[in-house]
Amino acid sequence: MAHLPPVDTFDYIVFGGTGDLTMRKLLPALYHRYRDGQIPDDSRIIGTARSPLSRADYQQRAHAALTEHVQPDALDDATVQRFLNMVHYVSLNGAEAGSDWPALKALLDGVPATRIRVYYLATSPALYGQICENLNTQGLVTGQSRVVLEKPIGTDLASAEAINDSVGRHFHENQIFRIDHYLGKETVQNLIALRFANPVFERLWSCDAIEYVQITAAETVGVEGRGAYYDRSGALRDMIQNHLLQVLCLVAMDPPVSLDADSVRNEKLKVLHALRPIPADDVAIYTARGQYMRGTIGDKTVGSYLEDLGEGVTSETETFVALKVNISTWRWGNVPFYLRSGKRMAEKSSEIVIQFKSAPWSIFANRPEPNRLIIRIQPDEGVMLSVATKDPTPTDSLALRQADINIEFEKAFNVRYPDAYERLLLDVVRGDPILFIRRDEVAAAWRWIDPIEQGWRENKAPLEPYAAGTWGPEGARNLLSQSGHLWHEDMKK
Ligand code: BG6
Repeated sequence: MAHLPPVDTFDYIVFGGTGDLTMRKLLPALYHRYRDGQIPDDSRIIGTARSPLSRADYQQRAHAALTEHVQPDALDDATVQRFLNMVHYVSLNGAEAGSDWPALKALLDGVPATRIRVYYLATSPALYGQICENLNTQGLVTGQSRVVLEKPIGTDLASAEAINDSVGRHFHENQIFRIDHYLGKETVQNLIALRFANPVFERLWSCDAIEYVQITAAETVGVEGRGAYYDRSGALRDMIQNHLLQVLCLVAMDPPVSLDADSVRNEKLKVLHALRPIPADDVAIYTARGQYMRGTIGDKTVGSYLEDLGEGVTSETETFVALKVNISTWRWGNVPFYLRSGKRMAEKSSEIVIQFKSAPWSIFANRPEPNRLIIRIQPDEGVMLSVATKDPTPTDSLALRQADINIEFEKAFNVRYPDAYERLLLDVVRGDPILFIRRDEVAAAWRWIDPIEQGWRENKAPLEPYAAGTWGPEGARNLLSQSGHLWHEDMKK
C-alpha cells in the first residue's frame, strides 16, 4: 500500500451518482486513494441522481460496486466501512431548477464555504449547462469550487462551443476540468518522461529518423448496453476526437518549456492546429470505417453490432475507424500517423508503434530490419525497442537477428498500476489542470474531426463490415499498404 501526501479535505458531488461510470470507475478510484492515505476522513462523496434512494441504500450500492470492481486483496472490511462513512446521497434532478436543491444545499452549507468542492458531471453532456446554471442560482459555486466535465463534449464544434459557453457562464476556465481518462494512464504520462528525459529518443524524434507512427486502441468489448449513446456517437467521436488525438499530441508535440499545465497544453494545441485537414471529399483516401458482424473472440461467439443494438434496428454507425493523419510541421514533414480504434477486435490492446527508417546501406548479407519502438499503454504496460543483433547461431558469416530490449513496468518497479481515474480525481482536488483538456484543445479537435464526419454522412467512404475478433475491415489495411506500410500485427507475420 502506497502512502501519498494527503490532499485538503473536500466534498466530491457526483451528478449521475448511480450511473455506470460512478460505480465502475469513480468510487473504486476514490477508495484506492483513501486506502493509500491520501483522502482525509472528514471528506465527503455525495452521490446525486433522480432515484429516490436513502443514504443507506446508496452506501449499499457503493459497497457492491467496490466488491465488484476492486481487487479482493485491496478490500478490507474496516477500510471499506470507514470509506462508506464518507458516502452520502441526495435524490436530485440536477437539470431541474425546482428539484430538491435545498437538500444538497443543506449538506454543503453544513461545512465551511472554504472547503474544496468538486462537482463531477457524469451525466449526458446536454445537461452540463443546466446543471451549472442551477448550481449557480442556488449559490453553490464558491471560490473553491471546480467542475469536472466528462467527454464527449458535444458531437461537433458547434455543440461543443455551446456546452463550453454555458458552463463558462458559471465557472472560470481555471475551475473547469475536462477529463480525458487516457491522460491519466501511467503509460500515457510516461510518454512525457520517455521523450523529454531521454535525449537518445528526442534526438531521433522527427521525420529525419521516423518512417511512420501507429496509435491503436483496440477493444474486445462490444457496446455493452451503451448502444443508445454509442449509436449516436461512433468510434470517431467516442475515441479518436479525444483519447487518440490526445495521445497523438503527446507523441508529436515539441518539448514544452516546463511542466506547467499551460506550457504543455500550448504545445499540444500547436499539434492540433497543424493536423492537415481531411476535406469531406477526401475521406475515402485518408479514412476507413467499419462495423462489426458476428464473429469469435477467443473461444466465444459474439453477435453483430446490430444484434447488440436490438431487434429490427439498422445503423450506419462505425464501430471501427482508421485514419492516415499528417502533421504539417518541420518536425514531421510527411511522416504519416496512423490512428485506429475499434470494438470487438482481436485483442484488447492500446499501443504506440514508432517505426524508424531503415539503415541507408547494409554491409550485412541479410538487411537489418528497421528499429521499432513500442510503447504499450495497456495491458502489460511497458516499452520495447527492437534492435538488430548478431545471430549467435554458429555460422561462417556475421548474420543478423532481431531482438527486443523490453521493460515491463509492473515487474520493473513492483508496483500496482493505478487506474487512470485515481490520479485525475485527486488532481482536480489539488487544482492541477496539467492532465485536463483546455477549451481551445476541444475546439481544435472538433474543427479537424467535423469534415470527416461530414464526408461519411455524405457517404463518400464505404462503411465496411468486419468480423468480430479480427483487426477490422480490409480498408484499414489498404490505408497503409499504399505506402508499403503494415499494421503492427501484420509485421509479426
Ligand atoms: C471511453 C469510451 O471513453 O473509453 C468507451 O467511451 C471505451 O467506449 C473506453 O470503451 C475505453 O477505455 P479504456 O481505458 O478501457 O481503454
